[in-house]
Amino acid sequence: MTTYDLVRGLHILAVIAWMAGLLFLPRLYAYDAEQADKPEPLRSEMRALLRTWQTRLLRIILDPAMAAAWAFGGWLIWIDGTTRGWDFLLQPWMLAKLAGVLGLSAWHGFIAGERRRVQGGTSVRSARFWRMTNEVPFLMAVIMVLSVTTEWTFG
Ligand code: HEM
Repeated sequence: MTTYDLVRGLHILAVIAWMAGLLFLPRLYAYDAEQADKPEPLRSEMRALLRTWQTRLLRIILDPAMAAAWAFGGWLIWIDGTTRGWDFLLQPWMLAKLAGVLGLSAWHGFIAGERRRVQGGTSVRSARFWRMTNEVPFLMAVIMVLSVTTEWTFG
């Protein structure tokens, strides 16, 4: 077993936790938005519960998992760069992977910021919006995973 293999495994585990959180948090926002037509006190009770889950999911799973995915991914870049040269960073597959990583991190930032608006009652996003955008992180993951596993090039 090499350090590289171990770090790659830890990277994949962090990514699994990150993806799980990215796919679940928007669902909790959709359920929160759907409480608008519920009668009181059910609406307040459900929202209190959903908002506790939103905050916990973000603080206990999403934020640490993103930090770990970046830390282990950065470590892999370091090992790759120092052993096989830094030019892999400019290969099309790696550029696609890095673009996906930036996109996923931006999406994380967006849904993390949205928590304050949802819980402060100022969010303008509907349950339909959250259901329609729910597949965005998964589509980005398809690009990123296939880029690193195939290391595709043009022609
Ligand atoms: C957060 C920042 C990230 C960085 C800096 C990063 C960087 C890297 C690097 C350098 C490798 C080794 C590539 C190689 O030479 O084979 C790697 C492997 C991998 N990454 Fe990431 N990555 C990140 C996030 C992600 C995400 C979000 C996903 C999936 C959604 C992902 C999926 C994978 C997989 C599956 C591998 C293993 C590929 C293999 O061994 O064939 N990574 N990552």
